[in-house]
Amino acid sequence: MGPREYTVLSPEGLAAARAEIESWPGYAETPLRRLDGLAGAAGLGAVFVKDEASRFGLGSFKALGGAYAVLQMMRRHLAEKGVTAPVTAADLIAGRWRAQVAGLTVCCATDGNHGRSVAWGAGRYGCRCVIYVHATVSQARCDAIAHYGAEVRRVPGTYDDSVRKAAEDAAANGWVVVSDTSYPGYMEIPRDVMQGYTVMVDEAVHQIDAPPTHVFIQGGVGGLAAAVVAQTWEAWGVDRPRVVAVEPDRAACIVESLRAGHPVAVHGDLDTLMAGLACGEVSLLAWEMLDAGLHDGLTVPDAAAVEVMRLLASGRHDPPLVAGESATAGLAGCLLAMADPALKAALGLDADSRVLVFSTEGATDPALYAELVGRPAKTIEGTAS
Ligand SMILES: Cc1ncc(COP(=O)(O)O)c(C=O)c1O
Repeated sequence: MGPREYTVLSPEGLAAARAEIESWPGYAETPLRRLDGLAGAAGLGAVFVKDEASRFGLGSFKALGGAYAVLQMMRRHLAEKGVTAPVTAADLIAGRWRAQVAGLTVCCATDGNHGRSVAWGAGRYGCRCVIYVHATVSQARCDAIAHYGAEVRRVPGTYDDSVRKAAEDAAANGWVVVSDTSYPGYMEIPRDVMQGYTVMVDEAVHQIDAPPTHVFIQGGVGGLAAAVVAQTWEAWGVDRPRVVAVEPDRAACIVESLRAGHPVAVHGDLDTLMAGLACGEVSLLAWEMLDAGLHDGLTVPDAAAVEVMRLLASGRHDPPLVAGESATAGLAGCLLAMADPALKAALGLDADSRVLVFSTEGATDPALYAELVGRPAKTIEGTAS
């Protein structure tokens, strides 16, 4: 990476996030699974899946981002209040700074997973939390957020409408927005969120036996894809894999932005089953990294993501794996490309390709998972969900 990219995500930022997150109770590297059966069936050399279903018991990689950003924000808040001692997570949990953080409220918009992480962090570190969800976020996801003590408010419209509402209410009430998406004048907190995600990518970099040739990564606002670009670039330099962002065909803001060469919003109801990817606007900070280092973008229909959920659950080629509806777009994009000779050639995929994907959530909405896959995640053998 170069100086421009280091202003977005940096090795120092990764080292700090890794040291912090590894110290949290319950931290464990998530598994990197090798799917040799699927690779053989698809005509690929190897397929590796980083399986985030077990992350901190929250069920998705998002546990790494929002909660870390809440902690970093609280540290800055305490520094502004004149606290000069190092502020540890353990001290916050023990209530050492209770008086200084009293009155602090964090809020954010979410499709589920980010809000769960922010609520988890706020609950642990002792500040109030208000989470905004848009019309189609399921009650199960709202309940999972409320479980950590957050107040959940439902807003009409799409995810992007809930982002705006959270920002308005925060400005009116003096709350702090802990968002996973950045916009002009609001970069610091989303940077911490993305830096938290780089911990997951760094784990994968150290787990894999040799560099992958391709990474297919699902895109919502692009923070995850930016973390993947940054950490694979940092790890493998000129030998870095080709990184392909994969989005729902009804919410393809990264693909449209790549096409235009600058951030472009997509409109409409962004109606996709892939709730975590139902975003119409790319995060500006993520875009800086994607513009510099993302190679390609693809879109997939909902049906393709669901088919891969079923394929992974079935154990047809490899031991079964529980992947939620926002977790499989990357692999779905890869498999669709393998079935399309022109696309396969354009992406340089062949029998020697080593593909890395991230199954970014388990069954975070268990009822929806059971409906889509045909049986509850609990009944799928050998899984953490
Ligand atoms: C499970 C899952 N995967 C992927 C993403 C996409 O991440 P980003 O919005 O940073 O692109 C999300 C976002 O909520 C998600 O919940």
